Amino acid sequence: MSSKPVVILGIESSCDDTSAAVIVNGKVLANIIANQKIHEQYGGVVPELASRAHLINILPTVDAALKKSGIAKNEISAIAYTRGPGLMGSLLVGSSFAKAMSLALDVPLIEVNHMQAHILAHFIDNHPKFPFLCLTVSGGHTQLVVVKNYFEMELVGETIDDAAGEAFDKAAKIMNLPYPGGPLIDKFGAAGNKDAFKFSRPNVPAYNFSFSGIKTSFLYFIQEQTPEFIEQNKNDICASIQHTIIICLLNKLIKAAEELGISEIAIAGGVSANSYLRKQLQNLAADKRWQLHIPAFEYCTDNAAMIAITGYHKFLNNEFSAQNLTATAKYNI
Ligand code: KG4
Ligand code: ZN
Repeated sequence: MSSKPVVILGIESSCDDTSAAVIVNGKVLANIIANQKIHEQYGGVVPELASRAHLINILPTVDAALKKSGIAKNEISAIAYTRGPGLMGSLLVGSSFAKAMSLALDVPLIEVNHMQAHILAHFIDNHPKFPFLCLTVSGGHTQLVVVKNYFEMELVGETIDDAAGEAFDKAAKIMNLPYPGGPLIDKFGAAGNKDAFKFSRPNVPAYNFSFSGIKTSFLYFIQEQTPEFIEQNKNDICASIQHTIIICLLNKLIKAAEELGISEIAIAGGVSANSYLRKQLQNLAADKRWQLHIPAFEYCTDNAAMIAITGYHKFLNNEFSAQNLTATAKYNI
């Protein structure tokens, strides 16, 4: 039996982060992320600017990942890339780069679903037991997924309008904070009183979520205040809106865990970096005897290590993809 190590180069470019990672036999040797500061001033990601920044960043990012890992190009076993979901222009940069590199090196390609990868990021340095229930909360998605094995995932609930990360970012924008606002609301909210202000909460059936009503209620609240009031009460306002968003997420997670009888619980995606969510989950886990899995910070927001680990499991399962497979902006889990 061959003992040649499995070396996966992962490439992620679905939104506004260009990332490349190298993993060997499932162990991360490098995970390089180039953020795009250009979007801060616009209060959100501008797709055309994101594509152009990916074009500039992709080669140096892949180069840096290979250099850091100490892996030579001829040692790569396969190239895994994000096929979707995401911004079409951004996806095209990463997928075209991966395809060209696979042709040049004569190694197979592995297409990866970005949402599955957020979940499989858990297997980088941890191993939740199957089946587990994962709350994936990012800038574009809010999903409750029953993960049956590496490849079989059942979507049991999702947002009917805005994503949780989007709710954070829009609330921040309403307060004139730069994009992405989630981390700033987290930071200011940590020093505030979560019960200071009340915002309307949605009432959606089953395991689905809704955040657009919260955003509207927050917008009306802010419009009625003076700039001085907002500045003086910034921490309390952030703590209150953060509490409102997080409670909506947790209520559905509790409902699904109880009704589906699953106590192996995980969170994934950019919003899982939120410190209030992480703290509340730890309290809940102790109370409800959940086995809780929270990813390391670096694997919560978009990164190529999660693409590479997904590629690694697909490689072991002999799942390769064709050169003529196209990137796709919408891609069901
Ligand atoms: O997973 P991700 O990096 O990209 C997408 O696939 O969308 O998630 C980005 C989202 C943004 O909306 C950002 O504001 C949010 O994650 N986020 C946070 C925190 N860190 C990132 N939201 C709340 N608290 C945080 N600490
Ligand atoms: Zn993501």
